[in-house]
Amino acid sequence: MKKIENIRINYNLNSISKKEFSSSPIKQFKNWFNDVVDALIEPTAMTLSTYSQDYGVQNRIVLLKEIKQSGFVFYTNYNSTKGQQIALNNNVSLSFFWPKFQRQIRINGIANKISTKDSVSYFKKRPRKSQLAAWVSSQSQIIKNREILDCKFLEIEKKFKNKEIKKPNFWGGYLVKPSTVEFWQGRENRMHDRLIYQKKNNKWILNRLSP
Ligand SMILES: Cc1cc2nc3c(=O)[nH]c(=O)nc-3n(C[C@H](O)[C@H](O)[C@H](O)COP(=O)(O)O)c2cc1C
Repeated sequence: MKKIENIRINYNLNSISKKEFSSSPIKQFKNWFNDVVDALIEPTAMTLSTYSQDYGVQNRIVLLKEIKQSGFVFYTNYNSTKGQQIALNNNVSLSFFWPKFQRQIRINGIANKISTKDSVSYFKKRPRKSQLAAWVSSQSQIIKNREILDCKFLEIEKKFKNKEIKKPNFWGGYLVKPSTVEFWQGRENRMHDRLIYQKKNNKWILNRLSP
């Protein structure tokens, strides 16, 4: 096996400066997202960290589904572990790593459920089998085996045959309203660029951080 400590790449693709950055982190996020969207396999994949009473902090990947003026939207099962954790403490963080571009974005914010109307509107756009899967999966619950899941899928598929699949009440979106957004661009000799937006008196302030 390759020695882990010898794995090392050079970061030297680009640099960033406050001058060229937007006054809005959302606008800046969109600029970076546009740079990468066609070049990456899963550019919307982001790590979501939540506070867990049992483990301190827990994270997992979810998919970014909308960038609103007010924040970042993802969808999930509201009864899942993450849903239960957010119900108790809605301070969350998101992070993206786009290695091909040597870029990272980190977001801290508050997660709140979006309106049922908006969740329904997105649910309707999902492929039918993904809609069924939302009904089938009691996300994060222990199950005895795979067969139980597959049987339930067939059962639910039968139930909704030739019918519109309604959005389950336990499934929907969260909006993460950011309080900080940090953009990281890898630079040579580990002298990376970091620019952070922080909200002060309802205005975004942009600062450079030491790498
Ligand atoms: C690429 C990728 C995309 C995923 N997208 C989502 C998603 O959008 N929503 C979701 O609930 N889970 C998604 N998952 C599954 C989660 O990582 C996680 O396993 C699941 O949500 C249960 O997490 P929890 O038990 O902490 O609630 C994704 C996983 C991967 C690897």
